[in-house]
Amino acid sequence: MPPELDKEKAMETLVAEIKACKKCLLHASRKNPVPGEGNLDATVMLVGEAPGRWEDEKGRPFVGAAGKLLDRLLALAGLRREEVYIANVLKCRPPGNRDPRPEEVEACTPFLDRQIEIIRPKVIVTLGRHSTKYLFSKAGLSFKKMSDVRGHVYEVELLGLKVLLIPTLHPASALYNPSYRSILESDFDLIGRVVRGAAQPEKPGPKLARERKGTLEEFMV
Ligand code: URA
Repeated sequence: MPPELDKEKAMETLVAEIKACKKCLLHASRKNPVPGEGNLDATVMLVGEAPGRWEDEKGRPFVGAAGKLLDRLLALAGLRREEVYIANVLKCRPPGNRDPRPEEVEACTPFLDRQIEIIRPKVIVTLGRHSTKYLFSKAGLSFKKMSDVRGHVYEVELLGLKVLLIPTLHPASALYNPSYRSILESDFDLIGRVVRGAAQPEKPGPKLARERKGTLEEFMV
């Protein structure tokens, strides 16, 4: 079977499991689960925190105000939404958009792990502290705060994959604090340069230099 059909089938099975999931209490309060969406062959995968009000209504990630900003940031990186894959740490909305609880993260992240294993992205962009904390820990890196790690590219091994991890702020943070917008713009400019091969990790290691000529393909071999 062609690999892309394998991916489609694997994601279909996973989405059905997410829709039927009752592993935490969030299934009782949400309207729709939000499994994630996008290109199963994406080079770039973005991971947010959890569905908000509009995502819960529509069953799709980042369709509210933060999603509109995310679309503009993706355009700044030279990326279209259709070519990336977008998922969240939690697939169901926490009531009132409260922070995810540890037991919810524990119950839900096996779904995210499987999404990463199916898509096999070369670049993972974490949006905000919840996805950064989870994926840094998965990669064996320590994480304290976003201001330490954003704006850098981390070459990591995660779920058996060689990945460039690029943490940035959650787009919603710029809706409440406009000064974060220029930080997000700078980070998405970096993401675009990494994807185009204009900004590469200098050498393997936990925290990597931001500028080096080369292509993503050269780096990934
Ligand atoms: N915020 C998130 O983290 N994810 C969404 O899908 C929407 C808003």
